[in-house]
Amino acid sequence: MDTQRVDGSMVSRRNVIVSATAGVAALVAAGAAGAARGKDADAAPPAAAPATGHPGHTGHAVPVAARAVAPFSVRMPVPKVLKPQSTKGDTDVYAITAKKAKVEILPGTRTEVLTYAGMFPGPTLRVRTGRTAVVKHTNDLGMGTVAHLHGGVTPAGSDGFPMDTVAPGKSREYTYPNQQRAATLWYHDHAHHMEAEHVYGGLAGFYLIDDPAQDSLRLPSGDYDIPIMLRDARFDEKGRLVFQLHDFEHRNTILANGKPQPYFPVAARRYRLRFVNASNLRTFTLRLGKDTQVAQIASDGGLLAAPAAVRSWRMTPGERIEVVVDFSRFKVGSKVVLTDAEAGPVMRFDVGRSATPDTSRVPDRLSTIPALPAATGKRKIVLSFDPVRNRFLINGKQFDQKRVDAEIKRGTTEIWTLTNDAGNFAVPHNFHPHLVQFRVLDRNGRPPAPAEAGVKDTVAVGPGETVRLQATFGPYTGRYAYHCHMIDHSSSGMMAQMKIV
Ligand code: C2O
Ligand code: CU
Repeated sequence: MDTQRVDGSMVSRRNVIVSATAGVAALVAAGAAGAARGKDADAAPPAAAPATGHPGHTGHAVPVAARAVAPFSVRMPVPKVLKPQSTKGDTDVYAITAKKAKVEILPGTRTEVLTYAGMFPGPTLRVRTGRTAVVKHTNDLGMGTVAHLHGGVTPAGSDGFPMDTVAPGKSREYTYPNQQRAATLWYHDHAHHMEAEHVYGGLAGFYLIDDPAQDSLRLPSGDYDIPIMLRDARFDEKGRLVFQLHDFEHRNTILANGKPQPYFPVAARRYRLRFVNASNLRTFTLRLGKDTQVAQIASDGGLLAAPAAVRSWRMTPGERIEVVVDFSRFKVGSKVVLTDAEAGPVMRFDVGRSATPDTSRVPDRLSTIPALPAATGKRKIVLSFDPVRNRFLINGKQFDQKRVDAEIKRGTTEIWTLTNDAGNFAVPHNFHPHLVQFRVLDRNGRPPAPAEAGVKDTVAVGPGETVRLQATFGPYTGRYAYHCHMIDHSSSGMMAQMKIV
């Protein structure tokens, strides 16, 4: 086919669509145009850059949910924290059943979704560093599933390798040692070829790790520590959730903790907001009110060394960013909207009176980021899209469970150079290795912005970009996946495996 160049904003979206064949290529090409438009503005640091990751939607009419929901008409819930079923010594045992359920997402409509424990999103697991969590997952979904703890340093047998699916009606115990620092992690399905549909369907929840170092900081906690899972979704006129692989264009209802553009009452005081982008393909570039300055305190792998003052923060799928917002800077009665650069209003914070004095704070020093051991190995990872065969590739290949793509000696440190070889279609990607938390060394040759200078497990690699990361591979051996976390891509094969020996 005629692969038209989309290397600048001069090429219109229409041209690109016309040049592409039907199906995936058309969708991807449309996205490429959106990405290419964003690329011009992408010279700014990631935290301040406009959305480049989400292939755009622009002026032309797309079908939306016929039952339009007025923004800010439903309250955002906070997912319930799951209680352990039992506790013995240093181990807490939890049980979660994956099943279909009908839940109210759009007001007055019940939508069938896939759930952990009947909840959308799933229940939050809240654990402490040094205490083991055993999570017994039962599969009542009628199709194979496998749970992955995203960001977890997990033995291979419990990591949720994409082929380790649990058959319908069966259960499996996953053991999470939690020998890692405090962080906002999340768990989600990873059944190969089905992960995109399963996560989109609702199989995702928060997993929060606390530790003593964090406790001593007096960050906002308890009712003032709010996890917010953001994602997009497409509903049909009956309020059914519609899934089509690579369909970023029609997923234009934004959900926060499972509700469309909700409001959330807050007191005029500090809050810790933990955001995860649980979308399959959409990148969020968020700002609060009229570009209110907030303190970013954490990224994927926990607290930054010091708070970073930001007016905008950007998250590709799978990434987490935590901010502390001081709502006392707004007048009581203010309604403060959180806005995405592309999707518009995401949710609204309604500021009320604060009943109790705010004793929380944001210290100038938050954590010590572990030093990087010297690297002894190097690897190149090329992320690409092949428009001729409609394939998403890592180093030119699709995932093959029988092929080991990287064999790594346990405990060694390596530098991986990630490149998004955009070619003629500027498709955005990102990158997530299991087992390890890494550090970003540089992005396009420049040091990472403060927002991504901390501990990370997922990183954006926009069209034409090169990102270098450094990680120490261990402490466990076995096979682990690494992949693009735009999970419609990984579902279509944009994944590989490493074997730690
Ligand atoms: Cu959240 Cu293998 O991914
Ligand atoms: Cu990708």
